[in-house]
Amino acid sequence: MRDSLQRPLRDLRLSVTDRCNFRCTYCMPKEVFGRGYDFLPKDDILTFEELTRVAQVFVSLGVEKVRVTGGEPLMRRDIEQLIAQLAGIAGLRDLTLTTNGSILAQKAQALRDAGLRRITVSLDSLNDATFRAMNDMDFPVARVLEGIEAARAAGFSPIKINMVVKRGVNESDVSAMARRFAGPEFVLRFIEYMDVGNSNGWRMTDVVPATEILERIGETLTPLEPNYAGETALRFRTSEGGEVGVIASVTRPFCHDCTRARVTAEGRLFTCLFAQNGHDLRSLLRSSTDDAELAAAVSRVWRAREDRYSEIRSLATDKVKAEMSLLGG
Ligand code: GTP
Ligand code: 5AD
Ligand code: SF4
Ligand code: SF4
Repeated sequence: MRDSLQRPLRDLRLSVTDRCNFRCTYCMPKEVFGRGYDFLPKDDILTFEELTRVAQVFVSLGVEKVRVTGGEPLMRRDIEQLIAQLAGIAGLRDLTLTTNGSILAQKAQALRDAGLRRITVSLDSLNDATFRAMNDMDFPVARVLEGIEAARAAGFSPIKINMVVKRGVNESDVSAMARRFAGPEFVLRFIEYMDVGNSNGWRMTDVVPATEILERIGETLTPLEPNYAGETALRFRTSEGGEVGVIASVTRPFCHDCTRARVTAEGRLFTCLFAQNGHDLRSLLRSSTDDAELAAAVSRVWRAREDRYSEIRSLATDKVKAEMSLLGG
């Protein structure tokens, strides 16, 4: 099954909640996501059974990798039960999760035992003051480092670490991060700050381009071949045998082989991180027990897909977009 630009459907990013205990300034700024913000009501959110059924239908259409996201996915109660259900889907080759690491120390072992195979932790700085300011909840970096350590102890290896780099905020922490996560037990990726959502006040001048990030790492890096077509990161081997990557979605977009679909916690299917609207799957999920009918609906949406926002950004920057915390990156 190919979309209108001949791209297959290979990855599903499944958001399990739109809530998060952080207020990262580039994602859920407090001015927008404050006390009065209307998060999704409980009844609108897909149950574990519904989420598993969605994943199953996507796998039947060719999806090989499911990434559980949020918001912060570990905020969803009993998340390990969902992981166990997803891990049981026949034909699913890769099951992973992206977390801010804040409650990972409590959850790592249970996630591993439930069948989670890989994990990615977002971490924007090792400097406690910078980290507290970026998450805007005064959350200490030490607790995230404990979470990473717990994940290692539970057997996750390598652990991916994602750092969003924002001009004037944390670019000076790039080399310290590269040193700290240089070993083979980690894969560190630097992410260009993107214009997702409508609330982060993105400007091109806030972006630290991948070329500059690589210079800041300050060591000899050997380029590696992509692991798979359409991989988000450009990868490099470090002199210590570790791996670093840059996700240059602003300066080197990778839409031409983007194989990712996103489903929000309330069951809307988005065909691009920058899409304005999603396609409702929940009504069908709740009104029909026929998986073939669901598969046909997804297939119709995918075949019509023509998104390539990052490649045409300059033409489309000011349209209204869905929020990152709804889509999970
Ligand atoms: P791997 O399976 O580890 O290769 O994961 P991944 O790189 O697909 O997923 P991850 O969640 O680690 O993605 C890292 C970041 O890359 C996300 O948080 C986004 O900021 C960005 N990203 C991921 N997918 C896309 C995409 O399709 N488009 C754009 N523009 N950015 C993306
Ligand atoms: N630009 C780039 N990455 C972002 N993320 C959230 N908002 C942005 C943005 N504006 C990243 C987080 C996390 C993942 C889920 O998305 O840091 O790693
Ligand atoms: Fe929460 Fe992740 Fe968004 Fe930060 S980037 S506010 S941790 S969802
Ligand atoms: Fe895929 Fe849209 Fe990201 Fe391009 S901007 S890589 S089409 S999600």
